[in-house]
Amino acid sequence: MNATAITLRFARRSEAPALALMSRDLVEAGLGWHYRAERIRQLIDDVNSVALAACDGQRVAGFAIMSFGDEHAHLVLLAVRATHQRRGIARRMTEWLLESAAIAGIASIKVELRTDNAAAYALYRGLGFVEMLRAPGYYRGREAAIFMMRMLRPAGLKPQSWRPPTLDPR
Ligand SMILES: CC(C)(COP(=O)(O)OP(=O)(O)OC[C@H]1O[C@@H](n2cnc3c(N)ncnc32)[C@H](O)[C@@H]1OP(=O)(O)O)[C@@H](O)C(=O)NCCC(=O)NCCS
Repeated sequence: MNATAITLRFARRSEAPALALMSRDLVEAGLGWHYRAERIRQLIDDVNSVALAACDGQRVAGFAIMSFGDEHAHLVLLAVRATHQRRGIARRMTEWLLESAAIAGIASIKVELRTDNAAAYALYRGLGFVEMLRAPGYYRGREAAIFMMRMLRPAGLKPQSWRPPTLDPR
């Protein structure tokens, strides 16, 4: 199995419990469990968020959730099952989200991760994210976080207004 055998699609509400368990075990391990099924369901329902599932047949092998503001987006969760890691699945999901954000006119995307998460750090660096800040005790007062950002365009630029073409009076 390689990443091309994986299908990307929007996550379904019925998958919220499975995604929540992946968050508990892969993302939030040792920090308590914030992203339970109800919270994931809210994010799937939220019109300002995109929840992507990477599927190996019927099974969800990984997922990613991004929330969109007017100018900035936040990569809220990203996880790939241990059985499917290192096959390009996280890169594919993140690239999909970066492309969607760029098309939506988003200026920048932020993400935070634990300082000891070398895999995620390498993934994000490879996708053009830069480290902005380290925040000691960010996670439950216990663990430090790294904040990273991916610029897509300069912030604050007004989109050009559209005008109908002038008609030639001839
Ligand atoms: C981080 C995580 C999402 C990566 O998923 P993945 O599908 O295995 O990643 P990919 O195969 O797309 O890897 C893309 C790149 O990321 C980096 N990378 C991924 N896993 C790595 C590892 N274990 N060690 C070092 N670099 C790693 C590499 O640069 C890799 O490119 P390469 O394989 O060409 O060298 C996965 O390890 C995971 O779910 N971890 C637990 C949850 C988590 O940390 N989520 C992100 C923080 S919120």
